[in-house]
Amino acid sequence: MKSILITGGAGFIGSHLVRLFVKKYPDYQIVNLDKLTYAGNLMNLKDIEQSANYVFEKGDIVDSELVNKLFEKYAFDSVIHLAAETHVDRSISDPLSFVKTNVLGTFNLLNAARMHWKDSTGKLFYHVSTDEVYGALKLGEDTLFTEHTPYDPRSPYSAAKASSDHFVRAYWHTYDLPVVLSNCSNNYGSYQFPEKLIPLFINNIKNNKALPVYGDGLYTRDWLWVEDHARAIDVVFHKGKQGETYNIGGHNEWTNMDLVHLLCDTADQELGRAAGTARASITFVKDRPGHDRRYAIDASKIEKDLGWTPSIRFEEGLLETVKWYLNNEAWLDNVTSGAYQDYYTKQYT
Ligand code: NAD
Ligand code: DAU
Repeated sequence: MKSILITGGAGFIGSHLVRLFVKKYPDYQIVNLDKLTYAGNLMNLKDIEQSANYVFEKGDIVDSELVNKLFEKYAFDSVIHLAAETHVDRSISDPLSFVKTNVLGTFNLLNAARMHWKDSTGKLFYHVSTDEVYGALKLGEDTLFTEHTPYDPRSPYSAAKASSDHFVRAYWHTYDLPVVLSNCSNNYGSYQFPEKLIPLFINNIKNNKALPVYGDGLYTRDWLWVEDHARAIDVVFHKGKQGETYNIGGHNEWTNMDLVHLLCDTADQELGRAAGTARASITFVKDRPGHDRRYAIDASKIEKDLGWTPSIRFEEGLLETVKWYLNNEAWLDNVTSGAYQDYYTKQYT
């Protein structure tokens, strides 16, 4: 049985990936290591937590002793590393937490893999990263981030992710550690913590609260359905070439204003409210410091080399997402009240 460590599996993308792997690969043992920060929610995995091939370990990747003990206990063949501090606004107010988890945590995992994988046959360290490491593109231009775009991180979050990417590549070149990386654009879908644009705005619309658009609202992101990202990770993990990087994106650029308008109209319709109700709550607020103007991914390498493509149109995915948050009131209430943080103690201790 292949033993795979997935870090950050209680988070947004991690929970989709854990679910995909647990269901699709009954012959793999999936060990989910997660610190359960504010962003970690075991309720995201309620439907698969009893599966025979799934184990949860609560712990911090910054704790090197714990990471080494887990490598001894489970003899991992592979690591898929997602655990990170991920919210750009939080990285501006508390950059140190981002250095600790994203840089030191990644470094600890690399060292543990290096120490325990004396024979690296059949082993793989996969780092799941972000397009934000490439910096910012200009609005109105049709340039895209490729795998060769020079790194130019602008926020403490992206600087920490860029640093961890560099360590992963350094371990490949210096110690022959078998690695692969992917850099993905903005994900959306179910189980995302409602501090990020889409779930925050759905929750605010539901509760008749203001919708705070940063700056002029013309910032542009390339949105990808989270389940398409999980499928892409599956493909890179099984078919990606060692030492390589794969950009993942939706070919789906939206200015924040256009996206927010579509979200408002979709939510009004689903809530049975008059057209224009949600749009009336849009409020322009102070801009995010160092706000990156535009992200857009050239995903042709993963498409050509590994045969992956996004599966769903944005309008359809956004409708599904709005429906999911409105129909999963208990999940949203547990998250916004903080009750989800008791789930581990109740179910696992
Ligand atoms: P998230 O914030 O929803 O989840 C992060 C998870 O990591 C949480 O479960 C949290 O408890 C855990 N964690 C945090 N610090 C930890 C630590 N020290 N030890 C162990 N666990 C810890 O994040 P996400 O949006 O699902 O992102 C997952 C990964 O994908 C990150 O590495 C992120 O950089 C990358 N990524 C995210 C996006 C996106 O749009 N969300 C896009 C591209 C790449
Ligand atoms: O590009 C990939 C990245 O996408 C990931 O690496 C990050 O982990 C993830 O958080 C995301 O970063 P962004 O900063 O792009 O996502 P966020 O949802 O915070 O913001 C999306 C856009 O919306 C951005 O231009 C800022 C803007 N925004 C965000 C919030 C929360 C607002 O205008 N108002 C808001 O309240």
